Amino acid sequence: MSSSLARSSLFRAVHAAASSSSRVSLARRTFATTVARAQAEPVPQEKQPLLKEFKIYRWNPDEPAKKPALQTYSVDLNQCGPMILDALIKIKNEVDSTLTFRRSCREGICGSCAMNINGTNTLACLCRIERDTKDTKIYPLPHMYVVKDLVPDMTLFYKQYKSIEPYLKNDNPPEKGEFLQSIEDRRKLDGMYECILCACCSTSCPSYWWNQDEYLGPATLMQAYRWMADSRDSYGKERGEKLQNEMSLYRCHTIFNCSRTCPKGLNPAAAIAKIKLELATD
Ligand code: SF4
Ligand code: SF4
Ligand code: FES
Repeated sequence: MSSSLARSSLFRAVHAAASSSSRVSLARRTFATTVARAQAEPVPQEKQPLLKEFKIYRWNPDEPAKKPALQTYSVDLNQCGPMILDALIKIKNEVDSTLTFRRSCREGICGSCAMNINGTNTLACLCRIERDTKDTKIYPLPHMYVVKDLVPDMTLFYKQYKSIEPYLKNDNPPEKGEFLQSIEDRRKLDGMYECILCACCSTSCPSYWWNQDEYLGPATLMQAYRWMADSRDSYGKERGEKLQNEMSLYRCHTIFNCSRTCPKGLNPAAAIAKIKLELATD
């Protein structure tokens, strides 16, 4: 064997030994880590129940003589999802199928699960359950007629929304294609188009409580302004004129309850102030 051939076989032998020893040590290390982890991990145990009471407004139109009352349900939070809507669904599925509430999307998009939770109007699907043992009180949206339990009658609210003609009005559509809008004009709609019409704001407004039949309330007024501010709409002036009366708009006294409660973080009070400003400077 030549000396260069001998050197090369020696190199291969040393390299093979080194890789096999590194494989062994890696395998040992992996094994050791696994054993250590197995020793460190606690044996899974059943979580202790964390019971919380939900006191929920109940009223059944089929029993008109029976007064509305709070009914108490106990829920183990360790067997329940994190949101108030999870608790309501659990109660309905497992304890009392007669409990009635609206819900659809369960992620703050449809607006149907609006209710008053511990004194605040909000969406049950976006409201976390406090993980403590204090009870949680749940009522329907305040100052609304109740259809059943947590379901308010939204008929007037939608009628008011319809009254502001919440759609694009323009008698001169472009000859070809769509209405175009600059990025700047489009930005003017931010903070308004996101409204999901849950009515949390309107039903937290004292002016709306007392004058609901004539005052449009923050949700509908913000939508009125959403169309007034839209560069593609040519009826802004007429829309504004319809609000020029004592009740539709000017019952707003800028108390800001509406903006404080909006679960989507919108600011209907600011939109109302802008309508007033536009009408004043017209
Ligand atoms: S402004 Fe907010 S609170 Fe009012 S209806 Fe729209 S999303 Fe609901
Ligand atoms: S700012 Fe106006 S709309 Fe909002 S809560 Fe106050 S009175 Fe109602
Ligand atoms: S279920 Fe749709 S907003 Fe709560």
